Amino acid sequence: MTKVTITVNGRAESRDVEDRTLLVQFLREHVGLTGTHVGCDTSQCGACVVHMDGVAVKSCTVLAAAANGSKVTTIEGLAKGDELHPMQAAFREHHGLQCGFCTPGMIMSAVDMVRRYDGKLDEKTVRYELEGNICRCTGYHNIVKAILAAAEAMQGGGAKRAAA
Ligand code: FES
Ligand code: FES
Repeated sequence: MTKVTITVNGRAESRDVEDRTLLVQFLREHVGLTGTHVGCDTSQCGACVVHMDGVAVKSCTVLAAAANGSKVTTIEGLAKGDELHPMQAAFREHHGLQCGFCTPGMIMSAVDMVRRYDGKLDEKTVRYELEGNICRCTGYHNIVKAILAAAEAMQGGGAKRAAA
């Protein structure tokens, strides 16, 4: 067993975990945050994406022990109280989801995408960058629309908050 302390959505969470425990298991099974999903066992689907020290990672590919001391943001940490993050609001507005299984990972990847491109995104880039996130329902069209709309909304203040 290893003692791991990870700051999750601003709160320090310490647990004794097996060495093989993945970050996604730490979040879901030890901390009880089930918004981060597991959709594959091959590191392909992206349903498990969270931010680790401000950067999107597939939490099924990171050991909890390797995340010791880091700051992790999950989908549960994006909204500010009742105020949705602009990316969440855009997915709702543009119907960027159907069953919703891929949505937490999509949104976390999309927020990181806006940060990396400083909001300067076009459709081709968004489609390219979504390579690591699989959606079985939507056909991606509305997801792309939502991300482009959010990137615009996040210009001028929102983008900085989003990257936090
Ligand atoms: S669960 Fe599919 S990439 Fe992590
Ligand atoms: S909305 Fe169902 S998998 Fe994407």
